[in-house]
Amino acid sequence: MQVIASAPGKAILFGEHAVIYGKPAIAVAIDKKARVKIRERIDSKTHVEVPGLGISEYLEPENDVIHEKQINKGILDYISKSLKKVNQLSGLKKQNGMDINVDLEIPIGSGLGSSAAVTVATITALSFYNKLEFKKDEIANYAHQVELDVQGAASPIDTTLSTYGGVIYLSRNSEEITHLPLNWNPSLIIGYTDRESNTRELVESVRIKKESYPSVINPIMDSIEQITDNAREAIVCENAEILGELMNINHGLLDALGVNTPELSRMVYIARKAGAIGSKITGAGGGGSIIAYSPNKIDEVLGELQRVENAFIIKLSSLGVQQEVGRTWKRRI
Ligand code: PMV
Repeated sequence: MQVIASAPGKAILFGEHAVIYGKPAIAVAIDKKARVKIRERIDSKTHVEVPGLGISEYLEPENDVIHEKQINKGILDYISKSLKKVNQLSGLKKQNGMDINVDLEIPIGSGLGSSAAVTVATITALSFYNKLEFKKDEIANYAHQVELDVQGAASPIDTTLSTYGGVIYLSRNSEEITHLPLNWNPSLIIGYTDRESNTRELVESVRIKKESYPSVINPIMDSIEQITDNAREAIVCENAEILGELMNINHGLLDALGVNTPELSRMVYIARKAGAIGSKITGAGGGGSIIAYSPNKIDEVLGELQRVENAFIIKLSSLGVQQEVGRTWKRRI
């Protein structure tokens, strides 16, 4: 018995951090995935292998080992909690063990949603493996609960994108998800530094700042909200100039929230100098990634970013989580 599920990573265009306080956000699913393969074992052990991260470990989901200080092994927490969640939901009794193999194309700790993609793909694979056939809204919901459990605070944006794919506007208080049209070519480039970002710590640092200076920070959150709403219109009307300018303003406000770093700042300005009309931190900041929007000079921006850090062009993924049968046939859920 073998099941494979894959789920895309994501990049946030507008609204990170503010989304934690009920503000809207816009994000895209990207063409980099997590692929989770589950195979039955003859014994009762659960073994996880993530070859790209050098991980090969036995899991005991009931014992809740937390690896929060080891970014690489942190991925095991999401897998372990996903197993626990599915076991609780299904009331599964002791069964044969599993080999879980994770193939990760998304750099970890880079703000590109690697943990959500692994969680969504793991829950989906487990759902098929155990013949539970969860629906997409259930998968997104359970994966968000796992993220909350591991991280303490998390908006549903990452798990939503990994589940549904596309370009998503998440409304105030995450009440509604709107799919925005995909028929524009966004020409996006990611630049990422090897310094990994810790979402939990960064969310906490913004919370402390907000509590210490509410009259200063609350208007920043309100401004990010306005930026996101204007950006939604710019996306629908395919207005590149406005979109780029709003990204630049959003970056300034993320800097004001204290989540910028010298490496990220350098990449943001290198991208603009090379011709990007918009560039900003994407995700939690504090390391991780920037996103640049460059409709006319994509190769120039990519080349300049690659001179200083890692960079790649992203394409949007209209597909969310899928069950893969073999490597060719894909089943939409
Ligand atoms: O984990 P990251 O780097 O993709 O950041 C997520 C964005 C935050 O708004 C900072 C947190 C969240 O859960 O939305």
